[in-house]
Amino acid sequence: MAQNWYERHVLPLLIDLACGSAPMREMRRQVVPTASGKVLEVGIGTGRNLPYYDAARVHSLVGVEPSLRMHRLTRKRSHQAGIALQLVGLSAEQLPLADASFDTVVCTFTLCSIPDPVAALREMRRVLARRRAAADCRAWPRA
Ligand SMILES: C[S@@+](CC[C@H](N)C(=O)[O-])C[C@H]1O[C@@H](n2cnc3c(N)ncnc32)[C@H](O)[C@@H]1O
Repeated sequence: MAQNWYERHVLPLLIDLACGSAPMREMRRQVVPTASGKVLEVGIGTGRNLPYYDAARVHSLVGVEPSLRMHRLTRKRSHQAGIALQLVGLSAEQLPLADASFDTVVCTFTLCSIPDPVAALREMRRVLARRRAAADCRAWPRA
């Protein structure tokens, strides 16, 4: 999809600014450290959650973010946080990832941005090994 100058250069910075508010940081602090094992973060954006991962609990982290303009800042934050990140420019509705291949899915402040959130949730459930997710700042225990 073609993007204009505003969408390419200004919007990612505005989203990053908005996602850094104190109430959002507090919600991240409560949810993100619960992620463990093989972790998938859907709509990782500019990587605002990265400082909150517990590196000792996370074996690997894959971040899905369709907006490629955000990737530079996301990579910078993963280096600063000391978390190895595999960043992919994909949409959450169709994840080319194997069934039951992740221990935790993290998805914060993102479902409202996804055009088909039901398809995205189906995909998150499919790739989860043990039905454990931290989504939209609510922790979902195993069903
Ligand atoms: C409000 S931002 C939140 C970013 C990040 N999750 C956070 O907590 O700071 C919403 C994010 O959803 C991403 N997004 C939009 N459509 C998406 C889709 N179909 N699949 C995955 N992510 C998507 C946007 O590019 C943006 O990075």
